[in-house]
Amino acid sequence: MTIATQARFKYGEGITLVNESGEAYLDGVSGTFNLSLGYNHPVVVAKVQEQVGQLSHMSSSFTEPYVSEVLDRLLDLAPAGIDTGWMRDITGSTANECAVKIAQKSTESTDVVSLFLSHHGQTQFATGISGNAFRRKGFPNSTASNHLHVPAPYCYRCHYKSSYPGCGFQCVEAIADHIQYGSSGSVACMIVEPILGNGGNIVPPPGYFQQLRKLCDEYGMMLIADEVQTGIGRTGYMFASELFDIQPDIITLAKGLGGIGVPVAAVLMKSRLNVLEKHEHSFTSGSNLISLAAAQSTLDVVAQPEFLDDVKLKGEILGSLLNELPSKHKSVGDVRGVGLMWGIEIVDEDGAPDVRKANAIIDTAFSDQRLILRGSRYGYGNVVKVRPALVATDDEIAEIVERLDAVLQKVG
Ligand SMILES: Cc1ncc(COP(=O)(O)O)c(C=O)c1O
Repeated sequence: MTIATQARFKYGEGITLVNESGEAYLDGVSGTFNLSLGYNHPVVVAKVQEQVGQLSHMSSSFTEPYVSEVLDRLLDLAPAGIDTGWMRDITGSTANECAVKIAQKSTESTDVVSLFLSHHGQTQFATGISGNAFRRKGFPNSTASNHLHVPAPYCYRCHYKSSYPGCGFQCVEAIADHIQYGSSGSVACMIVEPILGNGGNIVPPPGYFQQLRKLCDEYGMMLIADEVQTGIGRTGYMFASELFDIQPDIITLAKGLGGIGVPVAAVLMKSRLNVLEKHEHSFTSGSNLISLAAAQSTLDVVAQPEFLDDVKLKGEILGSLLNELPSKHKSVGDVRGVGLMWGIEIVDEDGAPDVRKANAIIDTAFSDQRLILRGSRYGYGNVVKVRPALVATDDEIAEIVERLDAVLQKVG
């Protein structure tokens, strides 16, 4: 058995990771897009340490008052109409399962509609509703017949070779056909990421979600916004549902809710959808006190009035710096994003997805520039993500793009 020889990272500070040799790496993607407040935000660290010292875990029979406090806080900040919640999960995957159970039970219908290129998690169920086949291969329980996948609003590479706005939202219109001819006739919900994160940082065009809302109403489907990546300030808004005026029935959260990487998830919904019995969706570590302390203190920071204004400004800086790259580097075909959630699409000379180059950029950024970036096999696999923690400074944002620019110069 071989033992990894790579120097181990020893500690993290702000958006920087430092290894055993003292070398500092700038994290341009906030861990797995989950360190909304960086590696060691003092407010969250102090609250979590205090909680561990007092009480790490009790049976969920006793944690309800603590859960209510966090939920009340989240619901105060949530879009209009979202007024109750469920916190018995610590991962985004099972939070999404919870949301679908709620939709299925409340509509007494079965089928789940989701987008090509979407990512909703990696339990067999969440893999099944996600929009790429490669992770389902070999796992028969992730290919259920009541999962319907429909084209995504990926304007840069439109499924129908149309262009916005002349397309008339063909990708939404087509969903009706998929339901008509591909479903069991009993559709419970549509689940969407406000920005398709792993699928390529795909930002739907203006008006898309309003069309989707209409369609869901027409078919009696619940609209679930999977805000596991976009929630808790990532787009400069507490919820991307606000930014895009999605008007979802259910919102799922995880990743950024734990602030410094503490696992915690939440499902928020309209109170008429509060149909689950406790025994229908509950996990040993769900609603544990460490997770709740992390969520509460993260909200203390992110809900400060000036905090999100600052994220919006930093997002504008990051966006405008990244938008300079296509004129300097032919391999950058598209730059898209909102707030601190950006992706650059890497293409070859013919404009086709260049996965090899995207991976080379990520590897070179790490080895030459000590800059951590991420890609994803979801979608075409050619989008390099830039998503620093919300606490990144203007200088750090400029530094990330400067190092990326140097990498593009080298890799071509
Ligand atoms: C949009 C989205 N939903 C759900 C998940 C699954 O979350 P978890 O890994 O916490 O199960 C992810 C993870 O990447 C995600 O990006």
